[in-house]
Amino acid sequence: MKKIVINGGNTLTGTINISGAKNSVVALIPAAILTSETVKISNVPNLSDTENLKKIINLLGGQIEFSPGNLQIDSSKLQNSAIPEELSEKLRASYYFMGALLGRFHHVEIFFPGGCKIGSRPIDLHIKSFEKMGTTVKKINNKYILDAPILHGANIDLRFPSVGATVNILLASVLAEGTTTINNAAREPEIVNIAELLNNMGANISGAGTKTIIIKGVKTLHGATVNTISDRIEAGTYIMIGALVGKNLVIKNIIPEHLKSLITLLKKMGIDMDISSDSIMLNKTDILNPVNVKTEVYPGFPTDLGQPMSVLMTQSHGKCKFEETIYEKRTGHFSELVKMGANIKYTDTKAEIEGPTKLKGEIVSASDLRAGAALIIAGLIANGKTKISNIEYILRGYEDIVEKLSNVGADIEIIDD
Ligand code: UD1
Repeated sequence: MKKIVINGGNTLTGTINISGAKNSVVALIPAAILTSETVKISNVPNLSDTENLKKIINLLGGQIEFSPGNLQIDSSKLQNSAIPEELSEKLRASYYFMGALLGRFHHVEIFFPGGCKIGSRPIDLHIKSFEKMGTTVKKINNKYILDAPILHGANIDLRFPSVGATVNILLASVLAEGTTTINNAAREPEIVNIAELLNNMGANISGAGTKTIIIKGVKTLHGATVNTISDRIEAGTYIMIGALVGKNLVIKNIIPEHLKSLITLLKKMGIDMDISSDSIMLNKTDILNPVNVKTEVYPGFPTDLGQPMSVLMTQSHGKCKFEETIYEKRTGHFSELVKMGANIKYTDTKAEIEGPTKLKGEIVSASDLRAGAALIIAGLIANGKTKISNIEYILRGYEDIVEKLSNVGADIEIIDD
């Protein structure tokens, strides 16, 4: 079993380059199969999630060429086969093949998606939206069979601005007959990136990035190119590391606009930052003011940065309150941080974190992707050796994390144990 081992306490200096956004690319790849012409995606991170999506495209008969950072997808010979459970369950984003295959073939056979176990994560909003667009959905155990002889536009009111449902409706609606309106759509930057690719392919989408998206169906889509936006969650994770152990540590290739809620909070904490148009330089800040954080949908504080943020809170001078509002149980890292010496009282959705506490190296386990990122941050500031297991979660979402950190001076490695 592979583990990450960190000897904490090193000061990090130099530059960390941020990769393309995982949550964008995992939708850009399925979007590419909506045309039989070639789609080129640049700034593609090399992650196990992208690998698994490539496997699904290959299984469907698509051709993929990958050179570092660039993906070329040719779906001219694509066939509509069932996507087996062992691939569907590898990642959350496998469900984007529901919208994409529905758009292209009007028929899909797929299983319930995988992803981090941080709550119940139903897909009712996706299914109800497809149904409104003329799809019949049969569910046999974990398998979904979707049929839409005539896929048509619809007026869809989302109960919650779900990222996944918004993307899936975009994918299904671009080739549907008539107009689709998504009310209460997700506004995350990744949605804008996906709409950009679809529009480059000839789709007619307006309003992406706002609460109302209007999609006028078109007859066909053509080949196109798109650049994956920079990963705001990866950037946020390294920014917090810089605030704790940086010395002129530069986090580069970021989009500061996408990180506003984090930057506002870090300023309140008194963190020493120098922000330019595409980078932030950070220095370890000795006295961190306590703050309260509540996760929200974009442009609020992202749930995906909540777990890393809780580590920063363990070093604040005072009591911080933390509340998770998107998922019912995103708390797998708390027990591990407490083992490392943190002073945290928590329920499934709320925590009180009192700092500053010296953390000590421990044997810990990553319960999910961002819990793993939190434990890496904790390991970097702890005294002694931290050994993290279940690191496959971390490698799903952080490209070359061990190399990026060791290049700036961290004592971190992956071992077989
Ligand atoms: C995406 C991101 C994930 C991020 C999340 C919220 C990807 C691959 N993953 O996940 O990193 O944490 O957005 O920013 O982009 N819900 C329902 N019914 C549905 C769909 C969602 O009740 O049909 C609920 C979920 O259980 C959750 C909330 O809505 O409580 C948010 O889910 P959603 O925005 O859909 O997140 P994902 O797309 O799964």
